[in-house]
Amino acid sequence: MRARTSDPSTLAPDYVRGIARYIPGKPVEELAREFGLDPARIVKLASNENPRGAGPAVRKAIAAAVEDLARYPDGNGFALKTALAARFGVGADDIVLGNGSNDILELVTQAFLRPGDTAVYSRHAFAVYPLATQARGATGIEVPATKDYGHDLAGMRAAIAPTTRIVFVANPNNPTGTWIAPTALESFIASVPEDVLVVLDEAYNEYLRPEQCAPSAAWTGRYPNLVVSRTFSKAYGLAALRVGYGIMNAKVAEMLNRVRQPFNVNALAQAAALAALADVAYVEESRARNTEGRAVLEQSFATLGLTFVPSHANFVLVKVGDAGRVYQRLLEQGVIVRPVANYGLPEWLRVTVGTDAENRRFLDALAVALGR
Ligand SMILES: Cc1ncc(COP(=O)(O)O)c(C=O)c1O
Repeated sequence: MRARTSDPSTLAPDYVRGIARYIPGKPVEELAREFGLDPARIVKLASNENPRGAGPAVRKAIAAAVEDLARYPDGNGFALKTALAARFGVGADDIVLGNGSNDILELVTQAFLRPGDTAVYSRHAFAVYPLATQARGATGIEVPATKDYGHDLAGMRAAIAPTTRIVFVANPNNPTGTWIAPTALESFIASVPEDVLVVLDEAYNEYLRPEQCAPSAAWTGRYPNLVVSRTFSKAYGLAALRVGYGIMNAKVAEMLNRVRQPFNVNALAQAAALAALADVAYVEESRARNTEGRAVLEQSFATLGLTFVPSHANFVLVKVGDAGRVYQRLLEQGVIVRPVANYGLPEWLRVTVGTDAENRRFLDALAVALGR
């Protein structure tokens, strides 16, 4: 007879039990409950969301899709993949849809990592890379971020070991907002051995100026080991719906399709993403407003004498000293930002660019929190 275990969590593999849980930004409702605040007065600049909300075309598409809630979504995402394929000049078979781009990151590790393998990523890079790596029993190789908090591509190339199956590159990176120029990026991709996948995470791509954008979709035709991930959560304003996509060699896509849930992207998300993709003006306006708001935050940090990492995304990483205390003092004033101690940055906070009014509320609250 098998002995009973008093702690059923011990049944999970050690590598799962060793995972440090992802810490999301504090939800507005939670802060309202904890501090007895009016949710309508709370400003959340903690999860790099688009402060504009979804556009009218998206709302209309969702309203139409609501009529069909009893039916499963198109598990193959035909309409959305066709539109993305046309946009990027790739085949529909080169695209995998995800429940957020987070799903794409998970699917790549699920399909390509096994216990004993390694994955390379930068220090201060997106937290999901180590999480997804560990969840497969693989081991992360973290490379010091020696380039002003950005990725050290030469160091990352040198860190690739015979056991390495994946190297993650975030461009721009979260939480640092750092960016790698296309020429340096392509040289890196070309230098990576063909039996190692390069996962190029471009969640914040739409916030770059057009001339800063790498032709990454076209690169997937040249580099069969390249996986590009993108999202509708940021500049497209659809974070709540969870929809993203990956562009990659069709043979790699086929492996991701084998391990993904059959209906991983829901029908409302597919309809909304299709409408959002067509609304080019919405994304351009979001980028323009973000650039202005980001400049206001960065200039204000400079005026306050605070060090910050110049950002290429929709958030700024700023050094405030005792970040835990400043975070709490902001919460007391109804402003939620993101502590990043779990990213090895205990003296820093990450602040999402909000609307003009939200940015002002945050900056006023910051001055109070810092005792200025
Ligand atoms: C660098 C990066 N990649 C991927 C994601 C995942 O976003 P989503 O799953 O909403 O597409 C995020 C979210 O914050 C991110 O910062």
